[in-house]
Amino acid sequence: MCGIFGYNGIEPDGVKKILEGIHRLEHRGYDSMGIAFLTGDKVECFKVAEDEKVGFDIKDLAKKIPNKKVICNIGIGHTRWATYGGKTVKNAHPHFSNGLFIVHNGNVENFEALKKEIDAHTLYSETDSEVIVKLIDKIFQDTGDLVKSIEKVMKMLVGANVILIMSKDHPGQLFAANKGGTILLGKSDSGVIIASDPSAFEGYHIIKKRNLETNEVAVIHSDFWDIIAKEVVTIEEDYLQDIDKNGCDFYMEKEIFEQGAVLRGTMSGRLILDKGNARLGGINEIARELRNVETFHFVGCGTAYNACSYATLLFNRFGISARAWIASEFCYSHPVFGPNDAFFFISQSGETADTIEVVEEIQIKGNICLGIVNVPDSRIARLTDAGVYIRAGKEKGVASTKAFTAQLVTIVLLAIYLARQRKMTIDTGMGIIEELILIPEKIEKVLKQKNSIKRLAEKYKEFKNYYFLGRYFNSVVAQEGSLKLKEISYMHAESYPLGEMKHGPLALIDPSFCSVVIIPNDSVHSKGVVNVREIKGRDGVVIAIVAEGNSFELADDIIEIPEIKPRYEYLYPIIATIPLQLFSYYMALELNCNPDKPRNLAKTVTVG
Ligand code: G6P
Repeated sequence: MCGIFGYNGIEPDGVKKILEGIHRLEHRGYDSMGIAFLTGDKVECFKVAEDEKVGFDIKDLAKKIPNKKVICNIGIGHTRWATYGGKTVKNAHPHFSNGLFIVHNGNVENFEALKKEIDAHTLYSETDSEVIVKLIDKIFQDTGDLVKSIEKVMKMLVGANVILIMSKDHPGQLFAANKGGTILLGKSDSGVIIASDPSAFEGYHIIKKRNLETNEVAVIHSDFWDIIAKEVVTIEEDYLQDIDKNGCDFYMEKEIFEQGAVLRGTMSGRLILDKGNARLGGINEIARELRNVETFHFVGCGTAYNACSYATLLFNRFGISARAWIASEFCYSHPVFGPNDAFFFISQSGETADTIEVVEEIQIKGNICLGIVNVPDSRIARLTDAGVYIRAGKEKGVASTKAFTAQLVTIVLLAIYLARQRKMTIDTGMGIIEELILIPEKIEKVLKQKNSIKRLAEKYKEFKNYYFLGRYFNSVVAQEGSLKLKEISYMHAESYPLGEMKHGPLALIDPSFCSVVIIPNDSVHSKGVVNVREIKGRDGVVIAIVAEGNSFELADDIIEIPEIKPRYEYLYPIIATIPLQLFSYYMALELNCNPDKPRNLAKTVTVG
């Protein structure tokens, strides 16, 4: 989390470039923003944070810079997700010590111990970042060697940390260092860009790029960088295409509405209809090893974990043993698994610290590590042995939408591929594919109901408590629906498998409690109806997601989704999720919450 951006180049509009870079990294945190740049022989530094203006944005930071025509070709910027210390200007980056300015992403786990190494009463903030820059400054004062001082301090830090430094005494240079995190260097026509993720490279013609690997320090000049040379890779241009909101008010809205097209892209070139199989280039090379895998483990966080739950149900349905894990729990739960088990790591960003921790643990054990990732060349994509990209394109909304449905479709492709290696017949494979290719159109049909779903959000906005309920495959939809509502509208929402209601949750049901029930025409429909009767019998309010044509009079309100052949009931979650995304989105708007910037959250969570 936290977004770092730096520019060292030949063009005089460095400040504009840095502000744009910060803006592009806002999905990494938006508790404060700050910039430091060199103009002439002066460093100027400006910051903005929540304590100064609730709901500030990049324009508020720009307004603080008095000289609108400032000439500058070197500087650093930061957008923060608060860890050590509140969301205040005082804690905003860049932090400084004498002529050194730092932007930092990470978590200094031995912060208290390191504080003792410096004069603690000189600290003006509550952050670990200030301690880093003070330590570097202290060593630099003694040695006069900035690179060595940075190296030394990086070695002292416990935890995953990335820093970018500008020094008044080193005018043409920036200094970046990485220990366990991610930072990218990109050479463009106009200079070198340093950024926490590739979304900040938008708008630049990147000629070369490189990840700064762990334990490396880079000295960055206006035309290149000095580090021990490793392979330089060309960035995937597709991914760098500029994105805007395409006429939508929020990224989340845009991302919900593009899901039909996204899923066509996820499937494109990967379906072999006449063989009832999927073509997945990323894992083809290890096809033989995959055939012998006994149990597949799926690991992820947040929405990606919900995708893991779906994968488990689907794999088991196809006779393949599978298990889902919440990444942050894995290492501490004494997991039992065999040498022939393989691990799939599901992550939109490919940078989630909790998930990476498990990848590293499994690498020690020697099991196959596979990625189901969206961002190309991200850390998980690089660390794993092989994998499949979900091809959702850039997702900016903090609450994941299109990445989730693209993860589900990717899981279906994988399940077909692995089940065909085992017992699945060609006919079954063909049948699934025939039904799967209809999904994008069905999603587009659901999206057309946006106005009626918006009216539902208006009607239910006074309700403060929600259950999201579903059985079997749709228990996953319930998990995801509940997470979405919580994330962006701050409503109290919980999810349960519908059949669990009678074992406790039913106690809370009364006319002020709303249950959103996902109950299409699947194999557990009639059992679900009994459970809904139990809710209605206690005067609970029910919104039901039902298959088209089912009037479901038990419910107070219904949202219809297109029908899926009962045999392929496991595809329902891909379309049943859509109305819940829309419901949460419109609810957030009704409650005046910004869906792109939910409070306390960030899209890319690089702290464990
Ligand atoms: C954060 C985001 C969620 C996301 C989760 C896992 O909490 O706000 O939307 O599901 O991280 O992220 P990943 O990038 O690993 O899928």
